[in-house]
Amino acid sequence: MSIKFKSLLLIGLSSFLLLGGCVDKSKGLAEAEAAESTYTLRLAHNQGVEHPVHISLENFGQAIEQKSNDTLEVQVYPTGQLGQERDVVELVQSGVVDFSKVSASALEGFDERYSIFSLPYVFHSKEHFYDVMDNSSAVHEIFNASANQGFIAIGWYDAGNRNIYTVDKKVERPADLNGMKIRVQESSTSINMIKAMGGSPTPMAYGEVYTSLQAEIIDGAENNITALTVNRHGEVAKAHSYTEHQYAPDILIISTKTWNNLSENQKEIVMDSVKETSENHKKLWDETEISEKKAAEEMGVKFYTIDKSEFIESVKPLHEAFKNKSDEFRNYFEDFQSYLK
Ligand code: GCU
Repeated sequence: MSIKFKSLLLIGLSSFLLLGGCVDKSKGLAEAEAAESTYTLRLAHNQGVEHPVHISLENFGQAIEQKSNDTLEVQVYPTGQLGQERDVVELVQSGVVDFSKVSASALEGFDERYSIFSLPYVFHSKEHFYDVMDNSSAVHEIFNASANQGFIAIGWYDAGNRNIYTVDKKVERPADLNGMKIRVQESSTSINMIKAMGGSPTPMAYGEVYTSLQAEIIDGAENNITALTVNRHGEVAKAHSYTEHQYAPDILIISTKTWNNLSENQKEIVMDSVKETSENHKKLWDETEISEKKAAEEMGVKFYTIDKSEFIESVKPLHEAFKNKSDEFRNYFEDFQSYLK
């Protein structure tokens, strides 16, 4: 998106959001709470309304409303209607939007510490992933480190593991990716990952992937199971291999401006609501993986279980490069690995 278009979008959006609805930005949050009037918080994300993460975000909003006796209201803007992931992070930074749910990989361009979540095979299993996300002090530190860049992370939602799928070619080994254009998120780690595996990475926003597959601009992509069904990639991509290379979590961020305006009680309400809904979301995700696999098979997608060892080996230099960036990065990496049982 051009800078000029971005500024126009920002100006247009600010006036739209400030003029529309029942928003009273002139009233401080604490004042609004004391007067028991409604203060509206906006949450933007790029998934469709039937996506499990959208459902959990709606639950998050409802939990906040209930716990605050409706003095806080949450309006969810799904389907990328306020922009792609990079755009909505910028809207959060400027305080035009209060919350946004984006992939951890999208945050890497704003704070390099987030690159750890996209490091391929940094998580060895779902149990390891959950344990780190829920308990690691490194995660806690990373989530709070970007406060002076306009946002902090307040929680995460499971977005499953990511696998490579192509229009028609079965990928069993890194060598099969030779000459194949694979869409990745706009994250240097994901770009380097596909390069290390032997393919040609093509970074682009999520909203452009379906048409790019259809137009054969790319040969494949990598994502969780919902991309095939909710985002309909399975209509054009028929060969899915369980590379299980990343567990990139979905991260819920809040604008530092909004956060600083919340009372201690409101902060507690927000944190309790994300914790509760993130936990409930795990079950919802498990159910989704089963139902969406079935739905994708009905669309004609073939699922291949493969030997991942060559993939794991191919990306080891990325782990070394990450650790060698600084002592801080090395400590994060070691902290993640210390949760291995
Ligand atoms: C996942 C993630 C999205 C992200 C997408 C992508 O679906 O939940 O937030 O946009 O991957 O690959 O871009």
